[in-house]
Amino acid sequence: MKVKVSRKAHFNAAHRLFREDWDDEKNTAVFGKCSNPNYHGHNYEMVVSVYGEIDQKTGFVMDMKKLKELIRAEIEEAFDHKNLNVEVPEFKNLNPTAENIAVVIWKKLRPHISKDKDIEVVLYETPRNFVTFSG
Ligand code: NI
Repeated sequence: MKVKVSRKAHFNAAHRLFREDWDDEKNTAVFGKCSNPNYHGHNYEMVVSVYGEIDQKTGFVMDMKKLKELIRAEIEEAFDHKNLNVEVPEFKNLNPTAENIAVVIWKKLRPHISKDKDIEVVLYETPRNFVTFSG
């Protein structure tokens, strides 16, 4: 039987959405307040889900302690209280939109979770705006 198990986590981070090849006017027109040249912060919330067969010995799809530790080590350590554009290498040449952050989180977690499980990342940039990536 397949079950989806999920873990919530959060991090605070600063970002700025912009393209270097666009001037300030165009960046503001497309990205709005998120293009503020002086950066700004969000309280990001995420839900990481793992979907797969229940292990008949443990009764787990995945040990939640291991999932918690994985999220802490791979995501919170890398992103929390960071300026995503400046301090996180994945966003050096990638706009840190919620979409791209969700994909980066998925890619960072994927190698650490058993291949027979599917994973899904839901990332909330605000309580009302959220994106989902499942590979
Ligand atoms: Ni923003």
